[in-house]
Amino acid sequence: MEQIKIFDTTLRDGEQSPGASMNTEEKIRVAKQLEILGVDIMEAGFPLASEDDFNAVSEISKIIKNSTIAALARALPKDVERAGEAIKDAKKGRIHTFIGTSNVQMEKQFNITKEKAIQLSVDAVKLAKTYTPDVEFSAMDATRTDIDFLYNILEKTIAAGATTVNIPDTVGYTLPEEFGKMIKGIKKNVPNIDQAIISVHCHNDLGLAVANSLESIKNGARQVECTINGLGERAGNAALEEIVMSLKTRRDHYGEFETNINTTKIIRTSRLVSKLTGMRVQRNKAIVGKNAFAHESGIHQDGVIKHRATYEIMNPKDVGLEESDIVLGKHSGRNAIKQKLAKLGIKADDEAVNKFFPVFKRIADEQKEVSDKEVLNYFKKHKMLDLE
Ligand code: KIV
Ligand code: ZN
Repeated sequence: MEQIKIFDTTLRDGEQSPGASMNTEEKIRVAKQLEILGVDIMEAGFPLASEDDFNAVSEISKIIKNSTIAALARALPKDVERAGEAIKDAKKGRIHTFIGTSNVQMEKQFNITKEKAIQLSVDAVKLAKTYTPDVEFSAMDATRTDIDFLYNILEKTIAAGATTVNIPDTVGYTLPEEFGKMIKGIKKNVPNIDQAIISVHCHNDLGLAVANSLESIKNGARQVECTINGLGERAGNAALEEIVMSLKTRRDHYGEFETNINTTKIIRTSRLVSKLTGMRVQRNKAIVGKNAFAHESGIHQDGVIKHRATYEIMNPKDVGLEESDIVLGKHSGRNAIKQKLAKLGIKADDEAVNKFFPVFKRIADEQKEVSDKEVLNYFKKHKMLDLE
C-alpha cells in the first residue's frame, strides 16, 4: 500500500472563508478533534496575519503530539521567523512558505520578476530550515504558471531544502485530466523531485477540487491538502471526507493508496467544525450532509430495508453514523412505515398500517416530512399504541 498524507487546512484556509473565523479556544478544540481523526499534518494558521493567529498556532503546537503542525508564511523573512517562533514547541513542526508564481500574480500583484520570485523562495526555504527540517514550498497559482518556470522554481526550492512541494490550484481553474498531466510532468521534468513529496491543494470554484485531487494522486501526488466540509476561500477547498471516502470506497480503482484517517470520526469532526464556525453543511453534501445517508422515496426505502447495498455504496458506520435514516415523506411506502413503527416500539398489524397509510399520505402531502412525534401521536390518539 502507498500512503497518502492528509494535510488538513481547516484551521487556516478553512478559517479564511468569510464568516468562519474561530477564536483560539475553538481552534484548539478543532485541532484535538483533527488529531483524533488522524490527519498527518494540520495547518494551524498564518502566524504573521494576527496576534490571535500566532497564539493559536503556538498553543496548538504545545498540545498536539501525533500530527505535524504547519504554520503558513509568505516567502519573506519576517513571515518565516514568526512561523518558526509559533511552532517552536511542536513535537513535529513544519513551515509552509509560498509565493505567487503565475505571470498575472507576479506582475499585477507582487510586482516581482521570475528571478526575484526564485530568490525570495530559496531564501525563505533556507531560513525556514534553520527552524525545522520539515519545510514545504507552495507555488501559488501553479495551474496558471508558465510550466518551465514552475519546474525551475520547484527544482531550486528542493535544492534549498524543501521536503514537500505543493502545487496549488489556487483559483480552482484546472480540470482533472489537465491537472493529472501537470503532476506527471513535474515528476518527469524536475530533476530532483525524488527528494520531495508532491502535494496538491485544490480549490473548488468549478466544483472539481476533489476530482482534481484524486487525479493528482494517480499521477504521483502523495500529499493532499483539504478541509473538513470543504470549507475554504470562495467555493472552498477539496473536502477531506470526500477524498478519503473515495479512496476507501473505490479501492478497486485506487487500490494501492491508503490514508491514516479514522473514517469513523468523520461525522463528529464535521459537526464540530460546522458548530464552531457557524458554517452550516448543505443537506445533500456528500458524506456529511444530513441527506447523505437518508432515504425518502418508497422504492429506495424498500430496497435499503431489504438489503442496504441496493442503494448505499458506503456503510454509514464507516463514517461514524449509527445507521442510515429512513425519512417518512410523501414518497415513502408501507414498508418504510412498518420499519419506522417497529423502531418507535409501536406494534401495528397490517390492518393498522393500512388505516394509517392514507392519513400519513395526507400529512406528508401537506408538509415535507412526517416526524416521529406525529406518527406516535396518531397511534396514541387511536389507542393503537402498544409499546413493545
Ligand atoms: O490556495 C492557495 O494557493 C493557498 C496557498 C497559500 C497554498 O492557500
Ligand atoms: Zn488555498
